[in-house]
Amino acid sequence: MRAYKLPQNIQLGSATASLQIEGGDRNNSWYQFCENNRIKDGSHCIVAADHWNRYEEDIAIMKQLNQETYRMSIEWSRIEPAEGQYNQAALDHYRDEILKLLDAGIRPLVTLHHFSNPIWIEEAGAWTNPRIVNYFSKYVKTVVYALGDLVCDWVTINEPNVYLFQSYIELTSPPAKPSMKHYFKGIKLMIEAHIDAYRAIHRIRSEQHFLGQTQVGVAFHMRVFDIERKKIRSALSRKLTDYVFHTLFLEGMIHGNYKFPIHRNKQYINQRTELYCDFFGLNYYSRDIIEFTWNPFVAFAKQLVKKGIDTNDMGWEIYPEGLYRICKEIYKKYQLPIYITENGICDQTDGKRAKFIYDHLEQVAKLCEEGIPIERYYHWSTIDNFEWQEGLSRRFGLVHINYETQARTIKQSGYFYAEICKTKEVSP
Ligand code: NOJ
Repeated sequence: MRAYKLPQNIQLGSATASLQIEGGDRNNSWYQFCENNRIKDGSHCIVAADHWNRYEEDIAIMKQLNQETYRMSIEWSRIEPAEGQYNQAALDHYRDEILKLLDAGIRPLVTLHHFSNPIWIEEAGAWTNPRIVNYFSKYVKTVVYALGDLVCDWVTINEPNVYLFQSYIELTSPPAKPSMKHYFKGIKLMIEAHIDAYRAIHRIRSEQHFLGQTQVGVAFHMRVFDIERKKIRSALSRKLTDYVFHTLFLEGMIHGNYKFPIHRNKQYINQRTELYCDFFGLNYYSRDIIEFTWNPFVAFAKQLVKKGIDTNDMGWEIYPEGLYRICKEIYKKYQLPIYITENGICDQTDGKRAKFIYDHLEQVAKLCEEGIPIERYYHWSTIDNFEWQEGLSRRFGLVHINYETQARTIKQSGYFYAEICKTKEVSP
């Protein structure tokens, strides 16, 4: 292994999501899911890493780890606990958190929707009710009026494909109701909600003369889909999976280009001059080997893990070249600056995380050398957290959380990454 350099101007940091770290909120869809015993290891999100009360301590740790930027999310259920009722105290809380980040010299990238919904939204049918576009828009505007003077960079929706897949096909996320119709309906509504939010954030920040260039995007979850042997049927399932899991979302949310199998709403059709993302946010973790199966519900595709390869604790293949392959492909297609909004490893012992970072940043260095504008990299995750249906036992953090005492301990990989953030040099 050799030492290599990243460009000096790449911004390095790490990411979290509100529900996964904050604790203390009973008003959201994931609290209910936990109450209904849907978490594999029996744990609960109600305390998580108690970040709501410990954000100052966590920001001090981020500073110690030389984080230049931090991707966080805002919990909708805290801001708007009931329709049309906004909670000023929650807005003030986030304002204080963001001010503390800025004081520490850390640039915030703020996600507006990261998987969890307020219960009133969930009860109204969440992202399958056409009124969601309007509901989301009002919430987004409230947040941007309140925090937009401090925040230039926004992610509207995190992993829309994973949210819909897990909610309506895999049934591992609320509401866990099988429905292909809802999956496709959800795509259309998420596209419309994103475009609406994109326009609102730009409009408000400019009308209010908020300083700094507004950057709005989506955090797209993308996987490499490969086939093992050249079988025609598997090749077709691969194509179809790529289309319904990637292309529909990318085309809709970047270009406003969506049609069959989802009806488009005239108001959101691109005028050809407008793009609805200022950067391409990419969450990259792994690759799947696709094999044909007679099941239309999963796009005729079984997703398998390659045999005899290195995996993380959850059995996902560790495949750094995939990051290179995807970035090349999306840059060719969309020519947008790329923010790697998530990349990380579930690794209980922290035995593999430093190497994971070394190997993935090596691909980033290579991409930058080839002129692909990777402007930011966010490691998932800053601290250990509540890994949704998997629970608290799955650990992705650079910092260990003892859930009994809430003690924070920087892992060896955390120190390793901190040095890279400082020097932009990576040595094994
Ligand atoms: C992507 C999701 O955005 C995040 O919430 C999750 O914890 C990581 N993947 C790891 O699975």
